[in-house]
Formats: sequence, structure tokens, C-alpha cells
Amino acid sequence: MRIYSDIVYAAHLLRQGEVVAFPTETVYGLGADALNPNAVLKIFELKQRPKFDPLIVHLQNVNQMSDYAEFQEELVNTLAKHFLPGPLSLVCKKKPIIPDLVTSGLDTVAIRIPANDIAQLLLQEFGGPVAAPSANLFGKLSPTHFEHVFKNFGDRVFILKGPSSSVGIESTILDITTEPPTILRRGGISTEAIEAVLGKVQEDIVASSNPKSPGQLKHHYSPNTPLMVIENLNDLKTLPLPKRFGLLLPSPMEFKFLDDHQMVTRILSSTNDLQEMAKQFFSILHELDTLELPLVVAIKVPNIGIGRAINDRLERASSH
Ligand code: TXA
Ligand code: MG
Repeated sequence: MRIYSDIVYAAHLLRQGEVVAFPTETVYGLGADALNPNAVLKIFELKQRPKFDPLIVHLQNVNQMSDYAEFQEELVNTLAKHFLPGPLSLVCKKKPIIPDLVTSGLDTVAIRIPANDIAQLLLQEFGGPVAAPSANLFGKLSPTHFEHVFKNFGDRVFILKGPSSSVGIESTILDITTEPPTILRRGGISTEAIEAVLGKVQEDIVASSNPKSPGQLKHHYSPNTPLMVIENLNDLKTLPLPKRFGLLLPSPMEFKFLDDHQMVTRILSSTNDLQEMAKQFFSILHELDTLELPLVVAIKVPNIGIGRAINDRLERASSH
């Protein structure tokens, strides 16, 4: 089976200290042997990522976590029962075996157990921890398809190709070193879902230039086309709009103004489904970016569940 030989080859590259791109259910990752600082350094160089931005360590299963981190076992077991493998990263106290480069010198490490089959097979074949950020240049749109990865890195990285990411936005980052735990980045598992299991949690996701989780950086997920975000369709009337522009809608919406404009309209979900909006989100932004539009206007999605994670990304993508 060709895909299996690709996985064996990718694991071989990881062992050689090389970087490989691989699919996960959230977004594609750019992985390296987390215990090999020289390999990890290549990720920072390829991505042009500042060293102060720590990487997430990917493991095959929860049992491996205690090799690399210290945590409250009961809490992790509860979270694992509901959400793992899946789009949730847990920030724990790190063990010394994890190189400082991976964690940007922090005494914590973010650990993620991806659900995607190919990611699982790669982790199994490699056997060790894989440090991996999203497989895009720093600050740019995240990749949910192998072609997006290719667009960023061309032939410079081996890409393990899979289907497009089923969740479509990055993992939720939950710091479990605080009491109660703190959400540092909203993502594929909603705050509501986590609170249904743990009770009230804190959120610390405010954009700043010295964030605890640099995914909180104000400018992030940037498309090349200028992006403007508005609350609702009526706000369009108040904007000075170019003749031709992109319009990103959460769901089908009818309106009877701007007849004299050429709009390239894209809809995140024809059925107003938040999961589908998340899945389509980066993919549609990538596509709009190829159309040489002077502007894309996006309307916020419903601000509930993972809709809030999508809106966070819209806001960061638009703050120029
Ligand atoms: O879904 C995902 O999480 C994807 C896939 C590939 O697993 N990965 C991902 O990685 O989104 P990246 O590097 O693009 O975003 C990781 C975020 C960064 O904002 C980083 O600051 C934060 O995780 N992070 C990593 N380690 C941390 C730590 N010890 N404490 C706080 N934040 C941490
Ligand atoms: Mg990223």
C-alpha cells in the first residue's frame, strides 16, 4: 500500500532529524523529532517562526504523556475520556527530557494527541514525540489541505498527503497547570464542551504582544488579501467598497443592495452548521487569496461553540 510506505519513509526522515508535513484533523502540521533540538530548529527556520513561540508536542496516546510531562492524572483521564484523541492540547508542567527550544524556555509543554489516522500511524511508526506547529509560514493562513502546505514550502519538505482536515481549525489549548484550567486558545473543542465536563474554566485569550500563548498574537492567520470583518450584512452599507470584492458569509443570506458591485461570494455552510463552517474556513480563505481581490469582507459567524474560535481567527486575520 503506497500510503503505508509513505508513512514508513516519513518516520525514517523524522529519525534522521528531518522535518515532515503531515495531516491532522485540525490542520496540517510541520513535524520533527521533539527530542532532537537540531531537528526542531529546522521547523523554526522553515516557518520563519520566532523562538519565543513554543511548539506543541504530539503523542500517539495518553499513556505516553507521563514520559514528558507532569500532571494531575485524574483530570487528564477525565479529559481524555471525552476528547482524546482529538483537537485539544493540554499545557502541563514539562519534564527535563523536552528540550527548551521546543517550549521556548517555558517550564510547561503543550501536548496533543491527534485523532487523524495518518497522524496516528506516523506517531506509531516513529515511536517518539513529534513537535509540530501548523505547516504554514509564521503568521499566515493555516493549511487544511496538502496543497496549502505545498504553497508555503514547495519541495523543501516531504508532505505526507491525506484528505483535507476534518475539523479545519487548530486545537483548543487548555492550560491544566492552573486551577481551574485556563483556555489559552479557542479551537476545535468548544469552551462549552470543556465546561460541560470540568465545570467553569478560565479563558485567557486576549490578544497582546507578549502573550502567554503566542497564538494569541494580534496579527495572525493573515491572508495576503486585506480582510475586513463586520458583524452583519447591514454593516456593508456603511463601508467604502471597491467595485469588485470578496464576500465571505457564514450561511446563505439574501440582500438587495450593492447591485452595482461585482461580489465574489463564498458561503461557509449552506446549512448554518458550525462544524462545517470550521472545516471550510481556512480552505475558503486560501481560495479567495488566489483571486487577486482588492478586499475580502467577512461576516462573523454565530458567536457560540466553535463559532467563537472561528470569530477569534477572523479578528486576528483582519487586524492589519
Ligand atoms: O491543532 C493544532 O494545534 C495544530 C496541529 C498541527 O496539531 N498545531 C498548531 O501549532 O496549531 P501552532 O504552533 O501553530 O500553534 C501552537 C500554539 C502556539 O500559539 C503556542 O504559543 C502555543 O500553542 N503553545 C505551545 N506550547 C505552549 C505552552 N507551553 N504554553 C502556552 N502556549 C503554548
Ligand atoms: Mg499556527
